[in-house]
Amino acid sequence: MCGIIGFTGKKAARDIILNGLERLEYRGYDSAGVALLEDGKISVKKRTGKVAELKGLCQSEENTATCGIGHTRWATHGGVTDANAHPHRCGQVVLIHNGIIENYRELVREYSLQDKLVSETDSEVVAALLDTFYEGDPIKAIKKTIKALSGAFALCIMFQDIPGKIFAIRNVSPMIATSCADGSIIASDLTAVVEFSKEYFVVPEYHILTLTEDGIDVMDMKGNEVKPEILSVNWDVASAQKGGYPFFMLKEIYEQPDAIRNTVSPRVSNGLPDFTTDGIDDEVFKNCKRVVVVACGTAMHAGMVGKHVIEDKLRVPVQVEIASEFRYKNPIIDEETLTIVLSQSGETIDTLEALKLAKANGSKVISIVNVKGSTIARESDYVLYTHAGPEIAVASTKAYTVQVAAMYLIACKMGLVKGILEESEARQFMTKLINAPNIIEETLENANNIKRVANHIKMAPDAFFIGRGLDYTMSLEAALKLKEISYVHAEAYAAGELKHGTIALITENVPVIALATQEDVYGKVISNIREVKARGAYVVLVSMDDEVNDPAICDKHIKLPKLDKEFTAFANAVVLQLIAYYTSEAKGLDVDKPRNLAKSVTVE
Ligand code: M6R
Repeated sequence: MCGIIGFTGKKAARDIILNGLERLEYRGYDSAGVALLEDGKISVKKRTGKVAELKGLCQSEENTATCGIGHTRWATHGGVTDANAHPHRCGQVVLIHNGIIENYRELVREYSLQDKLVSETDSEVVAALLDTFYEGDPIKAIKKTIKALSGAFALCIMFQDIPGKIFAIRNVSPMIATSCADGSIIASDLTAVVEFSKEYFVVPEYHILTLTEDGIDVMDMKGNEVKPEILSVNWDVASAQKGGYPFFMLKEIYEQPDAIRNTVSPRVSNGLPDFTTDGIDDEVFKNCKRVVVVACGTAMHAGMVGKHVIEDKLRVPVQVEIASEFRYKNPIIDEETLTIVLSQSGETIDTLEALKLAKANGSKVISIVNVKGSTIARESDYVLYTHAGPEIAVASTKAYTVQVAAMYLIACKMGLVKGILEESEARQFMTKLINAPNIIEETLENANNIKRVANHIKMAPDAFFIGRGLDYTMSLEAALKLKEISYVHAEAYAAGELKHGTIALITENVPVIALATQEDVYGKVISNIREVKARGAYVVLVSMDDEVNDPAICDKHIKLPKLDKEFTAFANAVVLQLIAYYTSEAKGLDVDKPRNLAKSVTVE
């Protein structure tokens, strides 16, 4: 959470920072601020609200400073107020912070910092501590401060009496940096730097960076110079822009066919899954007796879809765990367990900690990650990168379907390696997976029909998604998406479970979106739909039927292409994403930046 950026170079820094903050805004948007260093003075502008409002505040100021830092906040410690917004200033020091300082209260007591503080934040305590230790040597003060901190942090620091320099250090919280002809830039993620350079490095943990207009020095805590590995970006700045769509979410929904093609095609050889370039040994699959999937939110739902396929096709047991629960368990995991970790950002702290726990218990870990070089990717034994490009909308869409595709690749590979799937079966499965982008394209043609459903849902305080088997799993994701961006209270229920309690909530006109795409339980779901229809629900049926005109079954029918049961996931995902998207849009909400949320959840 929180987006941070720093620039020092040969150009004016203000607009570079403000534009970068706009790109980072999906990481948090409670308040924003910028600090500019010029002529031995640091000017700080900050306020609650979005970056656009900060831009307004800064417009009247001079734009000549060439060194500065900026922050967009997702509040953790202290409410959403101007005082709690970053940057924080104390004496000579001005800093921005992403993360949580766990021992900030103890630090205030131990170093008597209370009189230096004007906010309620943990971050300001770091500024106060730095100011306490600073006697003209920034590196010495930083080292001393860092030794006293416990928690996660990515910090960018300026000292009023040190012109043109930004100092940075991190533990856990992400930060990348690059230098180019214009100067040096550091940020929480690539979206803010990609227009300056296609090359970057991940800031190594507990290393002090000194950014100047000529480049970046990296040194470890003992003072040794370090040359970090340079990585390159495989997407361009246009990928992080809306490209004519009203919201990133809609753009990302439409990008799904290409995202899946880019993820699947490089891993198909002779019609079969091939992980050679990912460096994943067959042994990993051969030796595993069971699979544990750990992830959060939408990524976890993608894992649940994978569970259906692996258990159904291979009869290998799969347990899906919420990372934030798993990490505090005493998990039943051993060398024969394969742990699959899913994360778009590769930075979700609960998922990262769950990964570490799985490894500590002897399990091999494959992570399915979208962001190259992210912490989860680096901590895993093997990485299967999804190639969805940057996902900016807080609500995850394309990252989800590529995760599902990656789970299907793993299922097929595991089946082959274990000798459970014949080559011919695996080839057939892969042909269908390769066709998934076409399924999505066909489903997207129905967008206008799906949009009409939103007009009913937007009026409702509650909505229900029901289905059986894989359709129930898809319902869980649908309910999350609708709640997250449209604020309609939504729940997913296994269709057969309604009569055990939930049906009491079904009254006149309550929207029930019923998924009936699983052939083996189709008749059962239709019976459950009749039960809610009989109680007045407004039913939207999503099925592969040609036409359903029976008012005893549904008020609206959304037709999916004809598909094999496990491949309905791709079509269903698009329908359910569009329902959520259009509901949020119809309510006039900021679809990409729903309240209280941030894209990467790097706090517990
Ligand atoms: O970056 P990750 O995939 O690890 O993020 C996990 C969840 O925070 C994320 O999927 C979240 O649930 C989405 N905002 C849902 O749309």
